[in-house]
Amino acid sequence: MTATPIDIVAWFVYVLASVMFVMGLHYMNSPKTARKGNFISAAGMVIAVAMAFIKLFVTGGYNWIAVGLLIAGIAVGAIAGVVSAKKVKMTDMPQLVSVFNTVGGGAAALVALNDILASDHTPNLVVLITAGLGVMIGSVTFTGSLIAAGKLQGIGFVKKMRLPGKSVWNVLFIVLMLASFVMLCVFPEQRLLWSVLTTVFALCYGLVFVIPIGGADMPVVISVLNACTGTAVAMSGLAIDNVALIVAGALVGAAGVTLSVLMSQAMNRPLMSVLAGGFGGSDAAAGAAEGPEGTMKETTADDVAVQLVYADKVIFVPGFGLAQAQAQRELADLGELLKEHGVEVEYAIHPVAGRMPGHMNVLLAEANVPYDELVDLDDVNPQFPSANVSLVVGANDVTNPAARKPGTPVSGMPILDVDKSQNVVVMKRGRGRGYAGIENELYFEDNTQMLFGDAKAGLQAVIAAVKELLD
Ligand code: TAP
Repeated sequence: MTATPIDIVAWFVYVLASVMFVMGLHYMNSPKTARKGNFISAAGMVIAVAMAFIKLFVTGGYNWIAVGLLIAGIAVGAIAGVVSAKKVKMTDMPQLVSVFNTVGGGAAALVALNDILASDHTPNLVVLITAGLGVMIGSVTFTGSLIAAGKLQGIGFVKKMRLPGKSVWNVLFIVLMLASFVMLCVFPEQRLLWSVLTTVFALCYGLVFVIPIGGADMPVVISVLNACTGTAVAMSGLAIDNVALIVAGALVGAAGVTLSVLMSQAMNRPLMSVLAGGFGGSDAAAGAAEGPEGTMKETTADDVAVQLVYADKVIFVPGFGLAQAQAQRELADLGELLKEHGVEVEYAIHPVAGRMPGHMNVLLAEANVPYDELVDLDDVNPQFPSANVSLVVGANDVTNPAARKPGTPVSGMPILDVDKSQNVVVMKRGRGRGYAGIENELYFEDNTQMLFGDAKAGLQAVIAAVKELLD
């Protein structure tokens, strides 16, 4: 089939959109340029969608009902996307990403399914394989991401779901799904039967894959499902020969795989053990270590204020509790107060502090903390001995010295060497454990004091006490 002028124009526009996706992703490497990256990628997507419409009108292969449905779909999707992205709390971002994965995987599966079923002719083997893979991976992502979003959102019945004999169910649905995919390729004349069965088994596999995984491991699972969404989109793009879909899908797929591997490396756990379930929040992890002996020393906001005001150098160590308390503005305000008073202030950033990659960077950027005050693990660790005070706000596992010893759930995880500071103040609500479910040895050290309470209220009290001292 020879290419028409509109095919050639569309190809160039899709390549342009693809280049914009790549540039956008590149700019997302740094918080400074991330907004620009987001904008360029979104503009690339608008151009690609507009081109798809123009091609539809020029080639005449449309009816007005279908066009109306397309426009309605785009309008509903755009409004839902903008409203949810603007309203979502930073701590709820993983479940929003999961919902986006759900619709992305579902859409990719539908595009691929349409390519298999809509044509009057039997599709060739290449289309059957690529579209079949798109249906399979997209459907797994659809149900898997729905469950992941439900667990993270804390929806009661989803959180309570259990799957006795999880391995049997997993193997069963993988075999059934792959068998019907093979049958689709071998007997394409019965493509309706085999593609429907592939879809149903893949939807079931998505459920049994994610149900057994602990809620606390969901960020890694979501990243894996994100990679699946990208792969499904790329497969659908191959099936319908659309370069923009292929490139966008490949980028998301590769980024998702890289992120999943980096996240599990930073947590020092094999990716497969996360996907097999049974860590984070499990009873086994919680009981894995009895914890150190000794007592915790409590302190007051007034006492913390004195330590901070008379310090030369203070390092703030934010963690999941800061996000939970939404206390980033208070922390930034305290930092400003101390800097105005001549104290050197830095923020120590652990790569897996919080519950999503870059969580602390995003949180602190929201509070307008200057980027050069955010110091990565490798650069900040040598500085702890010279810090007069390290103020740990809602961080637990990422500061636990137990990581330096063998035999604990955090063993081998790189940590922030907070215990090497001259004085440590830890702000947390009570004696709750961190994500790994073990006690933190840091809290029992001689140089550590605990300021119990919600991080937001605690920081407000410390700010008030600092102001009183400085007046
Ligand atoms: P965690 O170990 O989860 O500890 C957070 C601490 O914050 C808890 O001990 C809790 O103690 C305290 N807290 C909760 N709400 C609070 C509030 N409102 N005010 C004050 N304190 C509050 O946090 P972390 O040190 O940031 O470590 C992150 C963990 O998540 C790591 O184990 C990491 O491997 C895991 N993880 C991270 C990611 C990514 S990509 N970031 C993904 C998956 C898993 P209280 O209950 O006593 O207040």
